[in-house]
Amino acid sequence: MISGNAFIAGVMGWPVSHSLSPKLHDRWLAECGIDGAYIPLPVAPDDLELVFRALPRLGFRGWNLTVPHKEAALSLVDEADETARAIGAVNTVIVREDFSLFGTNTDAKGFLANLAPHSPDYTRCVVIGAGGAARAVAYALRSSGAKETIIVNRTLEKAQALGRAVPWEQRAQALEGATLLVNTTTQGMRGHEPLDLPLHALPKAALVTDIVYAPLMTPLLEAARARGNPVATGIGMLVHQAAPGFAAWFGRQPNITQELASWLLDERNED
Ligand code: ATR
Repeated sequence: MISGNAFIAGVMGWPVSHSLSPKLHDRWLAECGIDGAYIPLPVAPDDLELVFRALPRLGFRGWNLTVPHKEAALSLVDEADETARAIGAVNTVIVREDFSLFGTNTDAKGFLANLAPHSPDYTRCVVIGAGGAARAVAYALRSSGAKETIIVNRTLEKAQALGRAVPWEQRAQALEGATLLVNTTTQGMRGHEPLDLPLHALPKAALVTDIVYAPLMTPLLEAARARGNPVATGIGMLVHQAAPGFAAWFGRQPNITQELASWLLDERNED
């Protein structure tokens, strides 16, 4: 399908083999009939700067960053937009005509777009975790007019840097009156312990979401659904954060459907 004129982009991670982004972009490229490729790029942290300088010279249109490169990427781009600077991380790089690098962060937008169909109420948001993902979520909540964002994290100091911090020991009570609950920790991911969070104080109307999408229904989401809370899975955030990069590199808006998220996960299960 690709010719010598193909547009090339990719995703850098270390490791990168778990990334679903190549499959997602590959499908969009096929659907749009674009002469292009989006490839996995395993890049060790020590090589990141070298690779950032080299890829534009190889004709790359840009790339995504995943763990552990998002924070380092911020200092390697020539210009970062306000969103990337506020979050302190870059997940999307666009190569400009003069080979300079423009960095943005689409995680916050992706997070909000994933929740939009659930008509979220941002009055009182509780975020579990204070890592890189939590920074994007906290920024997203602020930018969507959240009145109160409470950050609960095992390490209190990290939570304090993000908003109103609540000690880990008080996590159950922190859910009182919440309208939205977000898990941004790795707890609940396949191979990790479930998130240890009693839900008894959480109002039944609160929307519960998890940025973990492997498994799609994390123990937190299962527990929330069992007691009657509306839930939003995390896979849609991956799909929505990917769209702006695709549009910038390949010149077309990709099609986002409900079916796309489940197809992505089915594909992975076949691997
Ligand atoms: P990411 O960039 O993906 O958000 P991270 O920066 O490593 O990853 O953040 C992981 C988050 O999960 C942190 O909030 C971490 O809590 P600490 O700040 O105390 O390290 C949280 N986390 C990891 N393991 C945890 C556990 N066993 N219990 C509770 N929180 C945990």
